[in-house]
Amino acid sequence: MAAQHETAIHERLPQPTRAEREVADLLPIGAHDQTARAVLDRIPLWFHTFSLNEGSLYTSGVARDHRYRIPVLPDDLTGKRVLDVGTFDGFYAFLAEARGAQRVVAVDNEQYREWVLARWGVELQGGEGFHAIAELLDSEVEYRRLDAFELDQLGERFDVIFCFGILHRVESPLILLKVLRRRLAAGGSVLLETYGVANSELEHDSAIHVWKAGEVYARDEFVYWGFSGASLARLAEHAGFARMEIIDTPMIDGHPRITGMLLAEE
Ligand SMILES: C[S@@+](CC[C@H](N)C(=O)[O-])C[C@H]1O[C@@H](n2cnc3c(N)ncnc32)[C@H](O)[C@@H]1O
Repeated sequence: MAAQHETAIHERLPQPTRAEREVADLLPIGAHDQTARAVLDRIPLWFHTFSLNEGSLYTSGVARDHRYRIPVLPDDLTGKRVLDVGTFDGFYAFLAEARGAQRVVAVDNEQYREWVLARWGVELQGGEGFHAIAELLDSEVEYRRLDAFELDQLGERFDVIFCFGILHRVESPLILLKVLRRRLAAGGSVLLETYGVANSELEHDSAIHVWKAGEVYARDEFVYWGFSGASLARLAEHAGFARMEIIDTPMIDGHPRITGMLLAEE
């Protein structure tokens, strides 16, 4: 009975396409076949697509087509201290480590457990995908179950902060940006990806769109905001950043996205 239930869940989840595999292949894990299959059997739902085994076994991440993020990611993070805020399964934290970061901290309050249950009926314990990949990679990325608004508890600063997929999911985006600014070392930057505005004419309007609960993703009540470039630039200024550069405003799988870089100093 349990096996039938698991098959049903698996069949309802999207399978990785070439787009997801292309991003996953940035971090080839190279696990043995049996080990990779055991991980796939054990974890009921993935957010990120990981390339587990020489390009043949992939996790079926529910996140769609992150190729637009590739130009935002530094090729070389040698010696950098990196913080990944809202890491979920940790793909970007592990990628930072693979690209030479000296220290990587990955933080998540595991709020996703609520919307994963609401959207797919899958109960996660929290952190299981992250820990499975960390083990396969023999990774030293430090995972903390922590709310982003409590990041000052870390008591350390970072050269690069990844803030991907989370700003539109917090009630107080300005406060979150202020917290991130405080965690930045001199000369540091925040790489940002968040939900955008569908109409490109609104890109230079500093208004923020407010979504209805469940409007962006059915049964997911944690998506509040759609940001234009102009609204993010103003928020960044209020949060104490010297400047924000908008990198791209693509439409991905029917969802407007916006990427940019917030600089601590000129
Ligand atoms: C849509 S997922 C994005 C995952 C990953 N950063 C990415 O973009 O591929 C958003 C993540 O942010 C986490 N999150 C949401 N609010 C948070 C908060 N206040 N503090 C820490 N994590 C949070 C969620 O639990 C979830 O893992």
